[in-house]
Amino acid sequence: NTIESGKVTWESPSNIALVKYWGKKKDQIPENPSISFTLNNCKTITTLTFSKKEDVHNFEFDVFLDGEKKDDFKPKIQTFFERVEVYVPFLKQYKFKIETENTFPHSSGIASSASGMSALALCLMSIKKLLNPEMPNDYFNQKASFLARLGSGSACRSIEGDLIVWGQSNAIEGSSDLFGLKYPYRVHENFTAYQDTILLVDKGEKQVSSTVGHNLMHKHPYAKNRFQQAHDNLEKLKPIFESGDLDAFIALIESEALTLHAMMMTSMPYFILMKPNTLEIINKIWKFRQETGLHIGFTLDAGANVHVLYPKNEASQILEFINNELVAYCQNGHYICDQIGFGANQL
Ligand code: PMV
Repeated sequence: NTIESGKVTWESPSNIALVKYWGKKKDQIPENPSISFTLNNCKTITTLTFSKKEDVHNFEFDVFLDGEKKDDFKPKIQTFFERVEVYVPFLKQYKFKIETENTFPHSSGIASSASGMSALALCLMSIKKLLNPEMPNDYFNQKASFLARLGSGSACRSIEGDLIVWGQSNAIEGSSDLFGLKYPYRVHENFTAYQDTILLVDKGEKQVSSTVGHNLMHKHPYAKNRFQQAHDNLEKLKPIFESGDLDAFIALIESEALTLHAMMMTSMPYFILMKPNTLEIINKIWKFRQETGLHIGFTLDAGANVHVLYPKNEASQILEFINNELVAYCQNGHYICDQIGFGANQL
């Protein structure tokens, strides 16, 4: 089958981990299983234009972000292409133009690697499907997740929604280190349209890239216990999701977030990725929760921003609190309102 040229476009969301992936082995195999909410509004939209070329010895591609040529993105994509070439063997036969944009500001401190790498993986799968039209649909999503993992580990959790598990766990049937799996058990309606308001405390470049971060787990004195804890937490989430126990949910995700940061504080070299305003926000959330009994909780990525998580039916009171008390701690007052989403779409 030969196709001379064409164009595919996908939009793919970001995701927020509840049980964190932190530490990996060769070939982007996670040291522990993780689970995330797929987001809805924070997305990357990528168009991949391809045309046959003569020379088939090298990858040839250009990258554009918001219409502007971005040569500094090329090494990461070159590495990605090298890793996935065996699975999408047409890569050297075409010249590619990768045009990408994010729905969130790039200098927001929100990593675009999960949405960006999953969007690109989906575009490659679409070309593969054009070349092999009989490819079944379930294979498509699983393979897209598999490819996305090779771009950025957490990207494999962005293909579908609304809750995705990645990493082999005895508690989750069908889970794999190789791709994300839609959470296969019952989830209580308390978690329907769960809200995530992302408070942008620090919009600067990440102090520690996730590659460096994952590597810090290699000689980490607490690594073994941490990996076991992630397994245990995933198992503990099962009855929590089933019963809708929001208090237990909040305790678990906040502990996960603080443990992620504790791993960075206790590695060598060590890092503190929270800012004073991160702690101000956490303390305000705890005080408000105690005073009101509302189900507001937080999680953190490998940075200073705070993801405020809460059920939809408490949104009006909690948003009022966020506006009155928390926005003051955000850089330029900036925050992003998001909620659970259902995965990527072809445009
Ligand atoms: O996908 P990476 O290599 O950028 O790692 C992401 C790590 C965390 O965001 C901190 C946790 C997670 O599970 O998403």
